[in-house]
Amino acid sequence: MTITLDYSAKLILITGGGRGIGYAIARALASAGGTLAITYTHTDASDIAKALCEEFGVVAKAFKCEASDSKDTDRMVQDVEACFGKKVDIAIANAGVALWKDAHAMTDDDFRRLFEVNTYGPYYLSRALVRSWLDLPISVDPDVSQVDIKSINKTLGKQILVVSSISGLVAMSPQRQAAYNASKAAVTMLSKSLAEEWAHLGITVNTISPGYVATDMTTSDDPKLKEWSREWNYRTPVRKFASAEELGKFVALLVSDQQGGWGFFTGSDVVVDGGYTTL
Ligand SMILES: NC(=O)c1ccc[n+]([C@@H]2O[C@H](COP(=O)([O-])OP(=O)(O)OC[C@H]3O[C@@H](n4cnc5c(N)ncnc54)[C@H](OP(=O)(O)O)[C@@H]3O)[C@@H](O)[C@H]2O)c1
Repeated sequence: MTITLDYSAKLILITGGGRGIGYAIARALASAGGTLAITYTHTDASDIAKALCEEFGVVAKAFKCEASDSKDTDRMVQDVEACFGKKVDIAIANAGVALWKDAHAMTDDDFRRLFEVNTYGPYYLSRALVRSWLDLPISVDPDVSQVDIKSINKTLGKQILVVSSISGLVAMSPQRQAAYNASKAAVTMLSKSLAEEWAHLGITVNTISPGYVATDMTTSDDPKLKEWSREWNYRTPVRKFASAEELGKFVALLVSDQQGGWGFFTGSDVVVDGGYTTL
């Protein structure tokens, strides 16, 4: 059987698509012809989008959007639709932040921030998208709680994939990251809940839970990080990190119509961790 990845009919939105895992996913999908909307918040991704267009002959655009801000997310989804003249087909909620800090020392803001970006962010994005897909006003200001979506029967053929983490399954160490772990556990459960709630609409919602991937989040010249890094390698049975590129290609397979994207794959958490959680 030959599997050909063809995303030429798909508009794919990737949050945090300018760097790390998000960029690798964007690159893999661009190489298969996808039209891309990539978001960033600090590091302008416009040149990255331009380079993807030039290298792969696709259309890719960058949009500034703070993932933890629901109004900004609503606006961004509207801007993406207006820019491309169509609705998003596949959304990858990838933007995330980590914090290594002892639980006893975290401030309220530290703890809140992790949830705002890692948990609320994917929720805000999913909510904006489902409202768009159902032709409801994207902004939550008009109250649509009277709309009984259980009675709507559609086969929209849309996908949401959230980049969670094995940190939502096991308490990673030796670094202390209770807020990160909890925010990822929450987003994994949130995604399962959305999958159940929206299954009859033809919307699938899944998470991937990677183990350690070499990105800015996990690599630097900081001696402490280097020491942890050796420990992380040791604790990963395959004795290495995944590269962002490997993960990007994996996701491109997962959400393709020929693989996960045919509508039955939903409510799942795909663990891809070099065996870390087997121990
Ligand atoms: N690396 C790992 O080992 C690993 C393992 C498991 C799961 N993950 C998850 O994978 C995802 C990507 O991580 P990564 O390793 O690629 O990290 P990264 O290299 O630090 O990149 C993070 C990305 O998220 C974006 N972002 C961060 N905060 C944001 C915010 N408030 N609003 C909008 N965008 C924001 C960043 O945009 P800017 O460039 O504009 O800052 C950047 O594109 C995260 O959800 C992370 O938790 C990573």
